[in-house]
Amino acid sequence: MNKISPATSPQELYIRENVSLKAFNSFQVDAYTSHLAEIYSVEQLKSLLEHKIFNDQKKLILGGGSNILFKGNFKGLVVRICIPGVKLIKEDEHHVWIRVGAGVNWHEFIMYCLKRELAGLENLSLIPGSVGAAPIQNIGAYGVEQDQFFHQLEAIDIQSGKFVLFEKEDCGFTYRDSVFKNGLKNRFIISSVTYRLNKKPDVNINYGNISEKLQEMKVHSPTIHDVSDAVCQIRRSKLPDPAELGNSGSFFKNPIVNQEVFQALIKRYPGMVNYPLTEGEVKIPAGWLIEQSGWKGKTIGSVGTHKKQALVIVNYGGASGNEIYDFAMQVKATVHKKYGISLIPEVNIL
Ligand code: EPU
Repeated sequence: MNKISPATSPQELYIRENVSLKAFNSFQVDAYTSHLAEIYSVEQLKSLLEHKIFNDQKKLILGGGSNILFKGNFKGLVVRICIPGVKLIKEDEHHVWIRVGAGVNWHEFIMYCLKRELAGLENLSLIPGSVGAAPIQNIGAYGVEQDQFFHQLEAIDIQSGKFVLFEKEDCGFTYRDSVFKNGLKNRFIISSVTYRLNKKPDVNINYGNISEKLQEMKVHSPTIHDVSDAVCQIRRSKLPDPAELGNSGSFFKNPIVNQEVFQALIKRYPGMVNYPLTEGEVKIPAGWLIEQSGWKGKTIGSVGTHKKQALVIVNYGGASGNEIYDFAMQVKATVHKKYGISLIPEVNIL
């Protein structure tokens, strides 16, 4: 690894050459990037935009690396956003506004909220990744999505070098989606996100197995701490820990079909799990489709679907990005052949 511009102060920019990304992607794929910049402050972000390497090369902005699959090496500049800081910026009778640096680990932010009895995001405990990545794919779990508590975010415009504030309505949040994955893809780098949390908890335990878990825990009037504990226990029992087994959570999105398609499917497969949405659409769990297609717990070489959650694809050790990708495409093809549904990856594939 060669230093191109060794940093001598925290404000200074530091770009390394030919760096392994293994530690920076939760699939633990050993892909290399031509250049890597790690950004710890808004000042470094500003200098980066003026740097020749930034302006000459293809760029990839990386948060926690928990939603990305590198099929091969990255020929360009990877920018890791590590901006720290959690700050209370405003408070009224009912709410508290917290501004969080984009590089803060999501679960650490949840722990900060719990410690101060700030309610809302407890169902999103233990989601891997960074705060700056949360709005991009509008993370969600156990009946809650981050946009319900999102207030605004600050991002630098790569084209003009100016900082811009995005309010909730500017972000186009939908299921696992936002403007930052669509029309504004690769245009902005998020530096901080502000959430508005509740002082008075209004716990959401409607998602199936949370209430079951709370009963098992013998909790009758759950606090936000109980809900967080229940979510952590469910996640730990079902989802592999990326620190131990390379994975990126759900590999595909849960497909949404219209009534016509749904009626034809349910007639043929009466046991099909489904969640009716508004406007006549129905969400079908991809994990169910994959399991019913015979892929649950199956492996090819070092790649497989998780034994307890077929939607999670796992690198059991040393798999290349291409191997993981080929495996995922085989799963997709089988599901398509059996159900006529084309699964769409939730993970960003490069
Ligand atoms: N199912 C199966 N077999 C499986 C997995 C699931 O039949 O192997 C069926 C079960 O019937 C289950 C239903 O699918 O009742 C839903 O499963 P689960 O509750 O595990 O949730 P999911 O739809 O598979 C989604 C999110 C997860 C999130 C959980 C809980 C997506 C793509 N995934 O998974 O998010 O943790 O709900 O809210 O929406 C992620 O985005 O990386 C992620 C892990």
